[in-house]
Amino acid sequence: MDIQEILNLADHLIFNQTGKHLDDLQQVILRGTFQGKKYSEIAQEFQCTNGHVRDVASELWKTFSETFGEQVNKSNIRTVFDRWQFSIQHIEKDFVGIKNINFCPETSSSSETINPENLTQPTINKSQTIPKAKIDLSDAPDYKKFYGRTQKIKTLKKLILQEQKKIVMLHGMNGIGKTALALQLIKNIQNKFDYIIWQSLRDSPPLKTIQTRLIQFISNQNSTLETSENSHLLENLRKHRCLIILDDIQTIFSSGKLASHYAQEHENYSQFFQLIAQLSHQSCCLIISREKLREISTGKNKSVSSLHLKGLDEEAATKILKDQDLQVDEQWQKLIDFYQGNPTWLNIIATTINDLFSGNISELFQYDPLFLDADIKELLHQEFARLSELEKQVISHLATKTEAIAIANLLDYLQIPLSDLLNIIKSLQRRSLIEKQENNFTILPLLKQYVISNKVRI
Ligand SMILES: Nc1ncnc2c1ncn2[C@@H]1O[C@H](COP(=O)(O)OP(=O)(O)OP(=O)(O)O)[C@@H](O)[C@H]1O
Ligand SMILES: [Mg+2]
Repeated sequence: MDIQEILNLADHLIFNQTGKHLDDLQQVILRGTFQGKKYSEIAQEFQCTNGHVRDVASELWKTFSETFGEQVNKSNIRTVFDRWQFSIQHIEKDFVGIKNINFCPETSSSSETINPENLTQPTINKSQTIPKAKIDLSDAPDYKKFYGRTQKIKTLKKLILQEQKKIVMLHGMNGIGKTALALQLIKNIQNKFDYIIWQSLRDSPPLKTIQTRLIQFISNQNSTLETSENSHLLENLRKHRCLIILDDIQTIFSSGKLASHYAQEHENYSQFFQLIAQLSHQSCCLIISREKLREISTGKNKSVSSLHLKGLDEEAATKILKDQDLQVDEQWQKLIDFYQGNPTWLNIIATTINDLFSGNISELFQYDPLFLDADIKELLHQEFARLSELEKQVISHLATKTEAIAIANLLDYLQIPLSDLLNIIKSLQRRSLIEKQENNFTILPLLKQYVISNKVRI
């Protein structure tokens, strides 16, 4: 194999693993490594820092390790690829030439598909190393670090693979790590699907745009659709085992109303989700949203499930703070608790502690009231701007209380009819803005501070 063939194969493997092609620096690192260059020489060639090359290389070796099912690093990558080449030559005899290898079933009539079950190579477990799915993650963000969440990944795997749920809903508040978790999950289950596609609804697209893109990806057709999109898509979900990830679903809900009310122009999404949940097929739709969908809250349908994502546990949250070089002191735990293990808030406040207090957490806590970072404030502001007027009233009242309070107390104070109040509480729960402690309700300390400092409404 010459260097170009190695790069082509590496690109193919990386694309199957991550849904993205090798970028320029990754290519330079691979070429340099195969030519026996040091990281410092590669950095000089690419005109960037040694550290950057080292970080990108380390991620690359990690992805190859997952692909090959063994530890891959700078010193053994050559051997691993040689072994791979040896395996491929054997495969080649029985199947096709290396340039025609198609890891993606039923996507091209011009090249044959290697069936991993038929391969008995001594060095590599083929069912692990030849990814089966055709994957498109081009619409997903590229996150480098991922800590913890082992239990959540286990639960999601069980729901999707064992229980074969047709819709799994992952919900949780702004920045809590839903997207990152779903991306990590895909790495764990990609070989169980024929097609995996990630579609963000960040720009609140019409349903038809989403359906067209899904159908074109799965059926590999570029033509405009003539038959009904729903039936065409469902036909594909029946024929193939697909995992569809729809992220940022909250964008299709109305602002100023109770949670998860579809905006008028997006009402057809509700029927779409119900069809996916009710009709027969072998695929799964993973729905990611800041607001829990109401269809899924009914509990009637056994083919749908939801998972509420809360903050990271202490171990994972600590790793985020360590990455930011904060000094470990007795306030470490207090910081994680106050920011509820929310990775976005922790990253923001850690940067601030570095900028203002040279990494000393205690200095942040010496001020009263506690400093509320403008970037975190902005995120909360986006969240609160979506609330209905009555939700704001309830939240504002909860913010004045030091203890969790009962519905009866809220009823006395707010003078909102009981049925309205119960719906408001349900809605705030769907948004992950309030928590139930026994039968009483409260809001997170940081939200409390935000509401009080902004006087949203008291
Ligand atoms: N388990 C994790 N380990 C390390 N970093 C994480 C983890 N989860 C999330 N992050 C980081 O936290 C930030 C927010 O994560 P993510 O985008 O997944 O949140 P989200 O819940 O999808 O947010 P949104 O509601 O805005 O879509 C990202 O920078 C991500 O890299
Ligand atoms: Mg997200």
